[in-house]
Amino acid sequence: MSTVGDISAIAARAPVIPVLTIETPETAVPLARALVRGGLPVLEITLRTAVALEALRIIVDEVPEAIVGAGTVLDPVQLDQVQRAGARFAVSPGCTEALARAARSSGIPFLPGVQTVSEAMTLAEHGFEILKFFPADAAGGLTWIKAVGAPLSGLRFCPTGGVTAETVPAYLALPNVACVGGSWVAPRVAVATGDWQSVERLAAAASTLKRR
Ligand code: 3PG
Repeated sequence: MSTVGDISAIAARAPVIPVLTIETPETAVPLARALVRGGLPVLEITLRTAVALEALRIIVDEVPEAIVGAGTVLDPVQLDQVQRAGARFAVSPGCTEALARAARSSGIPFLPGVQTVSEAMTLAEHGFEILKFFPADAAGGLTWIKAVGAPLSGLRFCPTGGVTAETVPAYLALPNVACVGGSWVAPRVAVATGDWQSVERLAAAASTLKRR
């Protein structure tokens, strides 16, 4: 079963995927609702906190208008856990042979991470056509994505890691950028203080950005 078309449909839903590291389950629903209200329905919940799976389940149950996926998925066991929790897609910072195979056979839309041309070529052999470029800013940023446009012409990227409100328009202007991921739309302080208006405002600014 191919997962390629599915992740491309999800990437098409919004120019920016908020990357959310949720520390307290109580913030999950208001945070998701603020982002959806701002026009960003595709949400990545990273598996970096003890409550990540619980937060994912809560958003799946209580915010049906969100398209909730899991990030920082490192191996096939976690991939299985996030699917059971209701994740509609999965994201990894890099990829292994085992994870690529598990994602292909599970059928979940999957956005695997790469940092090099060889990694991108290996994932293209597995049939993945949209790849997370991570950590984008540290690994070459716009320059890298522009440079691989011609040689890797069949691939598109979701740059993530160090992208900001200031740098995101330049990424989205590149023809081989499908969408961009980042945490700037949900600042830690805004989440901790329940400042959902600020989150909604940041999401609204991001959701109206133009893509090529
Ligand atoms: C990720 O997990 O994809 C990144 O940590 C998000 O990066 P950012 O916090 O620099 O946006």
